[in-house]
Amino acid sequence: MPPELNPTERLLRACRGEPVDRPPVWLMRQAGRYLPEYRRVREGVSFLEMCRDVERAVEVSLQPLRLVGTEAVILFSDIFVPVAGMGVELDFQPGPVVSEPIRRREQVDALRVPDPRESVPYVLEILRRLRRELAAAEVPLLGFAGAPFTLAAYLVEGQRGKDFEEVRQQVHSGSEVLRALQERLAELVTGYLRAQVEAGAQVVQLFDTWAGLLDREAYREWVLPLHQQIAKALDRERAPLILYVKDGAHLVDLMAESGADVISLDWRADLGEAARRVGRRVSLQGNLDPTALAGPPERIAAAVRALARAGSPARGHVLNLGHGCLPDTPVEGVRAFTAAARGLGEAR
Ligand code: CP3
Repeated sequence: MPPELNPTERLLRACRGEPVDRPPVWLMRQAGRYLPEYRRVREGVSFLEMCRDVERAVEVSLQPLRLVGTEAVILFSDIFVPVAGMGVELDFQPGPVVSEPIRRREQVDALRVPDPRESVPYVLEILRRLRRELAAAEVPLLGFAGAPFTLAAYLVEGQRGKDFEEVRQQVHSGSEVLRALQERLAELVTGYLRAQVEAGAQVVQLFDTWAGLLDREAYREWVLPLHQQIAKALDRERAPLILYVKDGAHLVDLMAESGADVISLDWRADLGEAARRVGRRVSLQGNLDPTALAGPPERIAAAVRALARAGSPARGHVLNLGHGCLPDTPVEGVRAFTAAARGLGEAR
């Protein structure tokens, strides 16, 4: 077993499938409303204003490090932040709401793909600042983007639809508008993630949250080629790529063909089973049910040990939730989760 690693080495090695002393740990949505300290910084400003305010965004990105013992920091922003620069009018209520759903070819043609250095300079500045803040403790910095399908799902529906029937209808009717929209979004996402790595992100996560609504054939035709295109355009030697799909257990072997270094699974997937299906091609991330953090600390610790065991056949395992922390997640539960993960190293 390798000697004790610093948090950056531990995360990068787990992503690449190299030996580690124990799995690294962080949580999706680790900065958010469940933290009273977040709510204080958020007071009096809208969510979008907060994403554009470098001081506030840096502060809330760092809060989980100090408050809940996570071992990586993720940029505080939202997958829809770069979409505004395309010329889409959007608001958060609290989820993204688009004033004019995009369903016609002229609307897609009117979308710009801006240079992120011009359209979202504050995102890149937040990353540069975070990287400087984290250097001394060697804590890794994650960037992220939404994937074309998930972004398109909201843009086509206008807001979160229960099962996104409109976009699924478009998939199954072979919509050229959806195809063009996804291509445009893939261009946006690629440039955006590259700029994030340039600004200091050491790992990037692509959120294709709603791709799990698709069957295997639809995923293979409509989503996988875009994941592959994005993975290929990134310098993954420099920053490994994590791919998250909610409810994606039926897609695991296809996701392993995406070119991503890590597949992130929700709580319904069996990690051991997923590891058998993907073999040595990719590492795995996940996948405790976020609602489990409302349980007693001993149960959370037992669940972490069980997850580590289930993930051990994988080439690498990053401990995380199966989806983001919820607004009512108890802070104590999050602390119990990270403490149990750190404790996995103690039996060495
Ligand atoms: O993980 C992190 O801590 C980084 C920050 C982050 C946010 N959103 C902050 C946020 C990340 C990675 C996201 C991703 C995101 N956003 C996804 C993909 C992953 C997922 O959770 O499914 C999606 C689909 C969105 C769109 C979105 N943004 C929704 C549906 C909502 C409302 C639901 C909610 O949790 O409030 C948001 C708003 C949002 N994004 C908040 C935060 C902290 C809440 C804003 C607030 O009112 O303070």
